[in-house]
Amino acid sequence: MPRQRIIAANWKMNGNLALVDTMTSELNNIKFSDDVKVVICPSFVYLSALSAKIANNNIKLGAQNISEHASGAYTGEVSADMLNEMSASYVIIGHSERRSIFGETDKQIALKVKFALANGLTPILCIGESEAERVEEKTDAVLSQQLQPVIDEIGIESFKDVVIAYEPVWAIGTGKTASPEMAQETHQFIRQFLAKNNAEIAEGVSLLYGGSVNAANSKELFAQTDIDGGLIGGASLKVDEFKIICSAAQGS
Ligand code: 13P
Repeated sequence: MPRQRIIAANWKMNGNLALVDTMTSELNNIKFSDDVKVVICPSFVYLSALSAKIANNNIKLGAQNISEHASGAYTGEVSADMLNEMSASYVIIGHSERRSIFGETDKQIALKVKFALANGLTPILCIGESEAERVEEKTDAVLSQQLQPVIDEIGIESFKDVVIAYEPVWAIGTGKTASPEMAQETHQFIRQFLAKNNAEIAEGVSLLYGGSVNAANSKELFAQTDIDGGLIGGASLKVDEFKIICSAAQGS
């Protein structure tokens, strides 16, 4: 079975109701191929507004974070039940900004993945190395260290319901994209790492590339064998550019 192709928009702490309107009115009219999903991940406060405006079966709603707790005294946190009630079906977990700015640990991220899955949400698990780690040729070791705690926590079989986004930290918001060859090489490493645990599961996992994806570079990136789509930051806030990125995933 061909892998699901996914273009996910991570709005980060950007966007507003006007963007909700323009993005949905433009994307709703696009006829996507069956194997393509577009996942829009706005700030929590816009989930409800987006949910009301999405009118296209290929477009899904995602959140940017989730608590690893079910409910209780966790001021500022958002639970799986709340995301489900807002019709979110995906959730970004372990974004490098959550790891570096908010101190999320590999263990906590693994628990979040487990909790999302247990509540019927598809995690988009983010992994990626820093520039220094790439220069020191530690990329494979870093990615392994980020993946292994999640495998230990949920078991490799559960990866059939997990999406992985490889986002080299040095490429996020910098305009420095990994070359298609470099991105492919790293995606292949990730798939092989999973395959050491279960080859069939590894073959089915959608692997997204993230980091300065734009209208000009998306087609070549998405054409790589082990790249099944993208996690898009800045360019997902520009309707015309995001539409081009979505179309780059069609039939590639
Ligand atoms: P940019 O596309 O702005 O580089 O951001 C990538 C990202 O962090 C998506 O999660």
